[in-house]
Amino acid sequence: ALPAKVEALVAQMTVAEKAGQLTLMAATWAGGAATALNPAAGTSTFETQLGEVRAGSLGGVFNGNGAAMARRMQSVAMREARVKIPLLFAADIIHGFRTVFPVPLAEAGSFDPELARRTARAAGAEAAASGIDWTFAPMVDIARDQRWGRGVEGAGEDVLLGRMMADARVRGFQGERGLAAPDAVASCAKHFAAYGAGEAGLDYNSVDISERTLRDVYFPPFQAALAAGAPTVMASFNEISGVPATANPWLLTQVLRREWGFGGLVVSDYTGDEELIAHGFAVDAREATKLAFMAGVDMSMQSAFYRLHLPDLVAKGEVPMARLDEAVRRVLALKVALGLFDDPFRRIDPRREKTRVRTKATLALAREAGAKSIVMLRNEGEILPLPRAGKRIALIGPFAQGKHDLIGPWNVYGTDAEAVDLATGVREAVADAGSVTVADGSGIDAPIAGGIDAAVAAARAADFVVLAIGESQAMSGEAQSRTDIVVPAAQMALAEAVIAVGKPVVVLLSTGRGLALSGGVLTAPAVLVTWFLGSEAGRSIADVLFGIVGPSARLPVSFPHATGQEPYHYGHKSTGRPNGPGPLAPYKAHYREYANDAAFPFGHGLTYGRIGYTGLDLGGGRLSAASTLTVSATVTNSGTRAADEVVQLYVQDVTASITRPVRELKAFRRVTLKPGESRVVSFPIRRADLLFVGGDLQPTVEPGRFRLWIAPSAQAEGVTGEFMLA
Ligand code: IFM
Repeated sequence: ALPAKVEALVAQMTVAEKAGQLTLMAATWAGGAATALNPAAGTSTFETQLGEVRAGSLGGVFNGNGAAMARRMQSVAMREARVKIPLLFAADIIHGFRTVFPVPLAEAGSFDPELARRTARAAGAEAAASGIDWTFAPMVDIARDQRWGRGVEGAGEDVLLGRMMADARVRGFQGERGLAAPDAVASCAKHFAAYGAGEAGLDYNSVDISERTLRDVYFPPFQAALAAGAPTVMASFNEISGVPATANPWLLTQVLRREWGFGGLVVSDYTGDEELIAHGFAVDAREATKLAFMAGVDMSMQSAFYRLHLPDLVAKGEVPMARLDEAVRRVLALKVALGLFDDPFRRIDPRREKTRVRTKATLALAREAGAKSIVMLRNEGEILPLPRAGKRIALIGPFAQGKHDLIGPWNVYGTDAEAVDLATGVREAVADAGSVTVADGSGIDAPIAGGIDAAVAAARAADFVVLAIGESQAMSGEAQSRTDIVVPAAQMALAEAVIAVGKPVVVLLSTGRGLALSGGVLTAPAVLVTWFLGSEAGRSIADVLFGIVGPSARLPVSFPHATGQEPYHYGHKSTGRPNGPGPLAPYKAHYREYANDAAFPFGHGLTYGRIGYTGLDLGGGRLSAASTLTVSATVTNSGTRAADEVVQLYVQDVTASITRPVRELKAFRRVTLKPGESRVVSFPIRRADLLFVGGDLQPTVEPGRFRLWIAPSAQAEGVTGEFMLA
């Protein structure tokens, strides 16, 4: 229930003012795109937007520009509007605010939910210091097709990792002192649902999916986000088996509200209700409004459809007043929870805004998170870490230097100009900055005149080559699906020429997705996936290159052999004709060119140690209904350097009434191993860990044989055995 003083406001509101509360628009202070994108909305300048606040036809704005703007708008809302209701200030804080952390996909690779909680906390506190109340994050869409550009915003292909990251990020954004704390921001689990399952990896594309797969794969991270306290959910752009998510009563009301008991706010995505017309689902704006609203979208983003059409729909009895009041109460409840009715200016403080961003502590956290997100794919002959003194290093490639492509896509407030590039990070780390030469060699998409010759000359004069290549940050993110997930051709030509020089080469891959690697890049002695690491990118990479920090991250998405395998994920089904390990056999499930596996699988990532798995203990190998089976393996570092190993437990339900994946991650544990150290790593397995969505679409578990692996990746054997569930 709302506090009495807020209920009293509801009683005073006209239908138009209620529809205004349900309207969320891009802020125009920073020259936002409101007018250009949607003239029907009527917002053209900051002054017209202030007029809307005055008239009570705006519930909040998003992606605005700081405390000064927020103060001006909030003052109008609280002093000049008829009914005095504070505005909500929302923003896309996807991976940092002014301090930029690794893109969420990279950070998921840390397999360290506590790290994700800490970076989300820091981002939330920074954003709140600039007047932000609500973030459109975390993005919790499972992404199993690397062609899709928005996988970069989520936690990758795995359900367990997705759940854990969703939970950590919600807790991080919101903090531990309740939403009313001035440094807390409300989170928003998005995009509900199955946005990552668009056909052929095309952004916004249709999704044709079984209810079982929705419940088994795509829903659990949302459930985790809600369990962690996310008070809002964003409906996705895509249709689901013929019904757009934004107008899907089954999804937004039956599942979300009735089954899961969600009492919070559902917001559309940007013009998601308007798009019902292009979907071929609504005949016009009025019908689109009615369909979205009655399906369960409480607040409309950017189309202004609700304020334009709800009053008439209510007047004609096509939308019940009770539904209007319900949605208004949900918006107001969020404002109450955020403490805005007690103090509408609690997060709006220009002084805090100046002093609480890009602090020493947040930049140190960005550097730490960056290093912990780097995945080492290969390290033949242990050429890494590089020596910090006495050797000449050539940094080659379009990502070697310059203030570009450092922070990654979807960052509204951070800038590349404020971030540290690779050349800077490396020069700071080595004893003699003069031992480092830099050559771009190529543009990201196109060759540069004389670039390869200069790069080859630099490689010849060096002892080690660090080849920084990959995707630009514009190649992933929204509307950036790719048909071919490869390193662009101009850079491949550069790479082959530089590798042919014959010097030891370390490849660094900037990317926002799993890539299909080929040629010399695939076989280079050392390959590090460096993603887009944020404010301290160059220092984070240098920390790992020179062994100041050991690599410890794991792939959160599989890197396939070729684009044609997509959508590929490790947890696929067996088929009736699995090829099994070994050569490609006739009439088995494989491609002409490749096995149905990954070049570098989910969970893969090397360390500077030499890690071995032995001594599986199955703890008796029998699990009864009420018991716990504890399984363990001995993990040994026989190398000469310490290592942080992410030990992973995978299970396969060998026979079930609904076929199960060939492997499913059930748990993981990070252990630090000194040189020569062995540790027994154990995992409890309970019946609840073996649940799946059964024939009746309810969670079930069936007795029988289970295979398990304690292993360093989804494709490695590690140690393996079987147990029985009674
Ligand atoms: O939050 C985003 C969403 O993820 C994509 N469309 C725009 C929204 C607001 O910026």
